[in-house]
Amino acid sequence: MEMWSRRKFFLTSLAGSAIASANKLFGRAMDPLNVANPLPTAAETAAQGKRPLIISSANGLHALDRGMDILKKGGDTLDAVVAAVTVVEDDPNDDSVGFGGLPNEEGEVELDASCMHGPTGRAGSVASVRRIKNVSRLAKTVMERTNHVMIVGEGAHRFAIDEGFEDLNLLTERSRLAWLAWKASTSFNWRPGIDSPKYVQKSSIDGYNQQIAAIFDTPEKRAWLPHIQNVIAHPPTGTIPCMAVDAKGDISATTTTSGLAWKIPGRVGDSPIIGAGCFVDNEVGAAGSTGKGEENIKIAGGHTIVEMMRRGKSPSDACLEAMSRVAHNYKNDKKKLATFHIFFYAINKNGQHGAASLWRSTYDKNKHASYAVHDGTQARLVETIPFLDEVPPGEPS
Ligand code: GLY
Repeated sequence: MEMWSRRKFFLTSLAGSAIASANKLFGRAMDPLNVANPLPTAAETAAQGKRPLIISSANGLHALDRGMDILKKGGDTLDAVVAAVTVVEDDPNDDSVGFGGLPNEEGEVELDASCMHGPTGRAGSVASVRRIKNVSRLAKTVMERTNHVMIVGEGAHRFAIDEGFEDLNLLTERSRLAWLAWKASTSFNWRPGIDSPKYVQKSSIDGYNQQIAAIFDTPEKRAWLPHIQNVIAHPPTGTIPCMAVDAKGDISATTTTSGLAWKIPGRVGDSPIIGAGCFVDNEVGAAGSTGKGEENIKIAGGHTIVEMMRRGKSPSDACLEAMSRVAHNYKNDKKKLATFHIFFYAINKNGQHGAASLWRSTYDKNKHASYAVHDGTQARLVETIPFLDEVPPGEPS
């Protein structure tokens, strides 16, 4: 935070801005990041729309092929986006989504997801679901097989079992150890007590370090430590939103997440909220989000972005407009904005795409915030347009 206050800071309300002005303010010539091979920007790559198109947050880069294959064969856009995010839900190494997601404060993985099918104007959603891995498919099942839009908690779990989904422990060894390390960082109760030969009388940090050494007691586990210390310093709201438009111009989207790490049980973010974490209008486009869901819920980001595109804004400018509303909720107070990160992503019916990030980089200050795009040739990363020309504050430990 201290480091943050020393930095030169550009803050501007970008309401009504154009990409050109954002690029002028935040252009790559001024890029403070030490990125060896800069990514193309959304403005550079999306000027011409291309269909079919599928995009997601950056963590979906390796999964977009799966969706594009379906689009190229003339398959349904919702089948394509759900197939893509299922790859990430199944991946134990992505700890922001599905299997291996970071748990709530009680050590239980709780998942949220939603979807919208543009051609039929339908939606489905689930929240606070335990022990079911593929919640984007579960949201689609709610859409297809019930007269409801949203089912949560124990009811969603029972519905999943009735529909043939597998009941599964979603906590991997790595996410379990991350949870134990987080507990040791927040409470003396999760360290050896005064009657233990391992009790450390010195400063609390010694006690914490000793407990960490006991938890991560093999080279393999110690290799996880840098990442785990990062997620303890910055509890992630990882998530994967994915949206697609096919050759005919039909559009669908889904968003799936394990939500905020270490959350209060039952906390629901933006991902399962239709109009916030996911929104589609088949006449216009689609939008989704990652990052602090509470901020997105308060501006109904998905719906806001699609409405901006309906009025003629490009996907990138519509995402920047949503971001300006997030900042406006804090009167552009940079100290308050410094406490979180958030991203918006959008496509339109013409096959144009765009994304905006609150900060220029991810929490890894050497990594430009980016998103994944596949327009038929090969999936690639594209830079987001940053709202603030700054790296996010706070030192990853
Ligand atoms: N954006 C995901 C969440 O806040 O849960």
